[in-house]
Amino acid sequence: MTDQYAVFGNPVAHSKSPKIHRLFAEQTDQDLSYSAQLVPQDSFNRAADDFFRGGGHGLNVTVPFKQQAFDYVSFTSDRAACAGAVNTLMFQDDKIIGDNTDGIGLVTDMVENLGWTITGKRFLIIGAGGATRGILQPLLDQNPQHIVIANRSVDKALALAKRFSESGYLLGCGIDMLPGQSFDVIINATSAALTGSALDLPDSLLSDQQANCYDLMYAAEPTDFLRWAAEGGAKTADGLGMLVEQAAASFALWRGIAPRTNNVIAQLRASL
Ligand code: ATR
Repeated sequence: MTDQYAVFGNPVAHSKSPKIHRLFAEQTDQDLSYSAQLVPQDSFNRAADDFFRGGGHGLNVTVPFKQQAFDYVSFTSDRAACAGAVNTLMFQDDKIIGDNTDGIGLVTDMVENLGWTITGKRFLIIGAGGATRGILQPLLDQNPQHIVIANRSVDKALALAKRFSESGYLLGCGIDMLPGQSFDVIINATSAALTGSALDLPDSLLSDQQANCYDLMYAAEPTDFLRWAAEGGAKTADGLGMLVEQAAASFALWRGIAPRTNNVIAQLRASL
């Protein structure tokens, strides 16, 4: 029988996960189906119960359910515990296990696809919400020189820096405290693009050596942040590669096979 997988989200119609997993399944010759399910905001647990009782093998979870999925599962991986969020669920030995592949997806995209160096580099992450929390530990595991977390509301940046302080050299500050500092790698982890509001960043942030700027968001056109970065002479990348790499890590957990990603990223890019 065909193994069943799904992504739960709200909204979910825009999700590229069904296409990505279909391409992975074709490439690796796996017999599986993967659907997108719109789950009402207050019905995550019931929908997940129904899915697994109906023989479902694994789930991905997207906005707004990653924290609810974290509370729902019986066990979490270390990286899900650090992120406080789950994006991948699997049914194993009568238990539902929760993992989080977002951070490793970003690291894989940066290091293997883009050829960027993380170790020893000065990092700035803008934003201190769930997206930042999901990527911090996998980035710190690569031993950057330091990571500054800058947020509009400084208290959230300070709280995150404190929470991860045992894993590396981390500082929290407000966006208004950035002038005068410079970085090798800058990551936009804010949701500013979704609300159409601009991030007001000083040009001095970009290192004299060519800086690398990564936006966790992606779109057919470069985001405002990536346009700002390119105008300042930085190398840029959006979050499409991270999306495919986090999916590949989920697929590998479920199926025991790591799919190749380059063609899949290129196909998605062409269809944006
Ligand atoms: P996510 O889970 O996607 O990270 P979130 O937890 O709501 O979403 O966090 C959104 C982040 O984007 C926050 O860091 C937010 O800053 P505040 O904590 O000050 O609200 C940041 N953000 C959103 N719009 C922004 C803007 N126009 N300028 C700067 N930061 C913005």
